[in-house]
Amino acid sequence: MITFTDVRKVYYQGNQEIVALDGVSFEVKPGEIFGVLGQSGAGKSTLIRCVNQLEKPTSGYVTVDGQEITKLSGIKLRQSRQRIGMIFQHFNLLSCRTVAENIAFPLEVIGYSKLKQRAKVEELISLVGLAGKANAYPAKLSGGQKQRVGIARALAGEPKVLLSDEATSALDPQTTRSILELLRDLNKRMGLTILLITHEMGVVKQICDSVAVLNAGKVVEQGRVSDLIAKPESLLAQEVFPRRNGHLARPGAVLATIAFAGEQAKQPIFATLARRFDVDINILSGSVETVGDRRVGQFHIELEGAKITQALKYLHESEFEVEVH
Ligand SMILES: Nc1ncnc2c1ncn2[C@@H]1O[C@H](COP(=O)(O)OP(=O)(O)O)[C@@H](O)[C@H]1O
Ligand SMILES: [Mg+2]
Repeated sequence: MITFTDVRKVYYQGNQEIVALDGVSFEVKPGEIFGVLGQSGAGKSTLIRCVNQLEKPTSGYVTVDGQEITKLSGIKLRQSRQRIGMIFQHFNLLSCRTVAENIAFPLEVIGYSKLKQRAKVEELISLVGLAGKANAYPAKLSGGQKQRVGIARALAGEPKVLLSDEATSALDPQTTRSILELLRDLNKRMGLTILLITHEMGVVKQICDSVAVLNAGKVVEQGRVSDLIAKPESLLAQEVFPRRNGHLARPGAVLATIAFAGEQAKQPIFATLARRFDVDINILSGSVETVGDRRVGQFHIELEGAKITQALKYLHESEFEVEVH
């Protein structure tokens, strides 16, 4: 639904070059929620603005729904943009317009009649859970309600793609969760493809199917979120399961990291190891997380006993990821 191929974006400030995107390639599949995770200044906003051509890449190309958007201009670009909705960190609502009037704004631009506008706005207001708020002004709304207006407005043109630039960064954790649930719900019900950028791992963990990690304009890791979290060496896994460094194994003991996802998460693995191989297991850190509909876990453990080698072999054979330190 969205592809980036070797996209580079350089800003010039005086005679200074700022490389915001440095050879970025990735692919967002139809109907998926794709996250771009990165710290401030990593190039996330530049990346998302290249999708609707608010920024033009210096080189490389971007396609949306099979169309090379980097080649479009004039009326063709405007038509394409109508199929791309966008929501923002600070909502960008018009303060002098009511909720209904804010949502109607893009419909006025497309040239809907007043009657059609009213029906569509009513439908969108109930879709985002704002029943009863049609005539309120933004100043009277909470942050979460304002973002719901932003989402309704973004959906007015019936887009195939929704872009979200840090849409929950100004919200408290509970409101963040409810807005992310709304996005997940819209994604499922309407098959809406969402490209979402964030600096928060929690957002990626809660709703993204796939992710690209952006660092100083480069994609340093990408893949399915649950696959990456299941790989101990991935940046994502290291964020989700921080390790306690500096632990030294007791004489004769072995330190190991074991990771698993999906089916493996159902096995009583520690009990099996203890019973079959007579090893003592000391858990140093770790947890099991729910990512999408998969359970993904990682544990740092200390093993003691005569049959550690056989125990580790059994873990490998049972398709656990094992790393011995
Ligand atoms: N319009 C601009 N002119 C010059 N430099 C810019 C512009 N927009 C962004 N930058 C620079 O590009 C880099 C990436 O910025 P941005 O895409 O906003 O990152 P993020 O959204 O991840 O914080 C930063 O160094 C930023 O200062
Ligand atoms: Mg930004």
